[in-house]
Amino acid sequence: MRIYEEKNYENLSLRAAGLMAAEIIKKPECVLGLATGSTPIGTYEELCRKYQAGIISFRQVTTINLDEYLGIPSEHSQSYRHFMEKHLFSHIDIKRENTFVPDGLPTDAEWECTAYDAFIQSIGYADLQLLGIGRNGHIGFNEPGLSFIKETHVVDLAEDTVLANSRFFECLDQVPRQAITMGIGAIMAAKRVLLIASGEEKAEALHAALCGPITPACPASILQVHPDLVVVGDEAGLSKVPEEVKRCR
Ligand code: PGA
Repeated sequence: MRIYEEKNYENLSLRAAGLMAAEIIKKPECVLGLATGSTPIGTYEELCRKYQAGIISFRQVTTINLDEYLGIPSEHSQSYRHFMEKHLFSHIDIKRENTFVPDGLPTDAEWECTAYDAFIQSIGYADLQLLGIGRNGHIGFNEPGLSFIKETHVVDLAEDTVLANSRFFECLDQVPRQAITMGIGAIMAAKRVLLIASGEEKAEALHAALCGPITPACPASILQVHPDLVVVGDEAGLSKVPEEVKRCR
């Protein structure tokens, strides 16, 4: 594990985008695992800037997204496909046919999950998987539970996740209660995981993830055994992680 402690959200975003850009430069045909939520927005903005400055091209890049709400169409303003278009895809030279987000309105959700896993496996998993972390320690929509679920699956969103995400909807009732999420298996199969966390409200979860026991009660804790975990946090996000952990690993 390697931890970068950045002063603030802006610096965190610069660092995370720099690491992603390095991956693209090193391997132009890389597979990037992408995340949604508010934390990666600054990283995507910086990636767009790097593209506009001619530093990187996404022409050969393939992307696989972690998750999608179940029950809303891709055109919905809060779908994760829409999020990706708005914050990244529409600003860069990526080929749309090389961007993959689970279908939020599948005729058969189980089939969609199996097909998503088979596809990710067929392309050799992500070279770099970007991850945020939920206040409850979730990664993707792998919510705290009794076991780690390996496969892509349909998940009932935890009540605190629904509440946290309601800020993006007009009212609580509009927040989907289910999602399709990549499982722990595909996340752990990524060659590198880049976990980003910003702000005091993530400090507890980040501490549990990096320093606590490895338990499905904190899904992000499994990342402790990933062979190439890079954590980029700001000072507030890393405020509960002891200095010796930040320095030693
Ligand atoms: P956030 O969400 O970036 O909006 O805080 C992160 C997550 O829940 O994975």
